[in-house]
Amino acid sequence: MTPEQDERAFRALTRQITRARGLACDSYKERCLRRRIGVRMRARGVHTFQEYARLLEEDSHEYDRLLDALTINVTKFFRNAETWRALEPWLDGLWKARRGDVRAWSAGCASGEEPYTVAVAFAEAARRLGQASLFPRARVDATDIDRTSLERTETAEYAEAAFSEMPPELARRYFTAESPRRPLPELRRIVRVLKHDLTSEPAPAPPYDLIVCRNVVIYFDRAMQERLFSLFAEALAPGGMLLLGKVETLFGPARERLVLEEPRERIYRRTGA
Ligand SMILES: C[S@@+](CC[C@H](N)C(=O)[O-])C[C@H]1O[C@@H](n2cnc3c(N)ncnc32)[C@H](O)[C@@H]1O
Repeated sequence: MTPEQDERAFRALTRQITRARGLACDSYKERCLRRRIGVRMRARGVHTFQEYARLLEEDSHEYDRLLDALTINVTKFFRNAETWRALEPWLDGLWKARRGDVRAWSAGCASGEEPYTVAVAFAEAARRLGQASLFPRARVDATDIDRTSLERTETAEYAEAAFSEMPPELARRYFTAESPRRPLPELRRIVRVLKHDLTSEPAPAPPYDLIVCRNVVIYFDRAMQERLFSLFAEALAPGGMLLLGKVETLFGPARERLVLEEPRERIYRRTGA
């Protein structure tokens, strides 16, 4: 097969995936797509994109496995714990100013460890300020494109390994002790789980005080990343914060409205307050 034929077969395959499952393949980095599709092809013992396209037509379960492979959903509670520590003084200020009426969005939440981390961070701010009774006014929107991830976020049952980066006293304070561990009901209550495609939909319920979108934009091409950064800038309240993943950097027009507050932690503040 010539490189041109290979390229044509790859394009036809990604169009087929988009038609069948609505995943906007052309917004993802081609390198990532090829690598992940390659993993599934090897697992099924096929050697060309055409063969794999045929296999998908015949076996719809393979679409589920492919989508799992494409939407990598590795995550942890308090992933990069130092980032969450760096956010504490700002969280305390926000909590005090809003008397607990705070809004966050975990965009690309995977199995829920991130939105429950935000809920714990809110609860801790309330505790530090002696205002725990205001806690139910907080809300965390947890969104993802992947159905299985959303089900896991709803179910909210976690194995011990998910807690390896979380300070143990916080795990004890906010999760049941027996395995699988669950968040306490007051935490569970403030997390709202929604299906949402970042490549095509507006922000679910702006304005937000905090948007956490970590280790997600890295899979998108530059144009989609730029579009998303503008969407986040638009969806944040003035003075609100955006948290990106440790290896992600903001660029494009959104830089006029989002200033880098903590370079090491990739924390950006929305101007205007
Ligand atoms: C590596 S996980 C990141 C999880 C978490 N944010 C963290 O940093 O621990 C990437 C998540 O992005 C989600 N994702 C990929 N494409 C998406 C899209 N178009 N819209 C919404 N979520 C998407 C995947 O399903 C996956 O759960």
